[in-house]
Amino acid sequence: MEHKKIEWVVVSSDTAIVATDAGQVWFHALGECPEISPFSAPMTGEGTPQTTALLLNAAVELVFRKYGCEVQESLATLPKYVFNLVCTYHNSSRTPGHYRQAANRFREIGRPEVANYLEKHAREETGHDRLALKDLRALNLEAERIIENLIPEGMKPLCDLFDRLSSADYPIGCIGYSYCFESTAALKQKSDVDAMQALCPEGVDASRFMRSHSSLGKEVEHVEDLVNFIAGLPASDRIAIVQATYETAVLLAECLHGEGRMPDEAILAQLEAAAGEPIQL
Ligand SMILES: [Fe+2]
Ligand SMILES: [Fe+2]
Repeated sequence: MEHKKIEWVVVSSDTAIVATDAGQVWFHALGECPEISPFSAPMTGEGTPQTTALLLNAAVELVFRKYGCEVQESLATLPKYVFNLVCTYHNSSRTPGHYRQAANRFREIGRPEVANYLEKHAREETGHDRLALKDLRALNLEAERIIENLIPEGMKPLCDLFDRLSSADYPIGCIGYSYCFESTAALKQKSDVDAMQALCPEGVDASRFMRSHSSLGKEVEHVEDLVNFIAGLPASDRIAIVQATYETAVLLAECLHGEGRMPDEAILAQLEAAAGEPIQL
């Protein structure tokens, strides 16, 4: 009989995600007696890129399905898009510093392979916050003042989580945090970028960040790179990364859901308060 490789991670009190190298993935309900489930005990085997990708993507999908969440929902109007850009700035401005901080810790504890990877990723992500600022400026907004005075409500818990994961004694979870953002960005197609660009006034290019963080930019490559790297890590690291991806997806879904439901007037009022001047979008 052909040997089948199985990997699994418990992501919440009642659910484990299970994946096989035959490409199957499913959510396993741990039920009333999780202690008798074979998937309650942590996996210990080696990973493969295929099973690792299945686990990571299923962690995001499980959450988004539960919340009925659409990434595009928070980008449906120009004020919503601008609000999303502000969130994006706060995320991308943290990434290089947080990854370097985690890299230093991994070097200290004798894990140079993780440190090297984090440093490389920090270099790749450097300057991406400038793209979000340029997009805001292209829309005639006081970008610096707005980002200085405003962290949207739904973004705060995400920033806190990223700060906490990256400064932990064992900061492997910061990789799961990034995976959640990079993998959802990589799903964006040219039609998504075009739809957003169509919301902008004629001749205004405010999609620099989105273009480069979609299937049109480097994001697909970054995701493949992340998967290959994660798959080579010990099982305990892979478990922690999938769990961090799940935790991030929960907060991201709440953030997107909240922003999707906010009336444009409420968003504009927050942007105007942060800019200290009336805003015309
Ligand atoms: Fe980026
Ligand atoms: Fe990236």
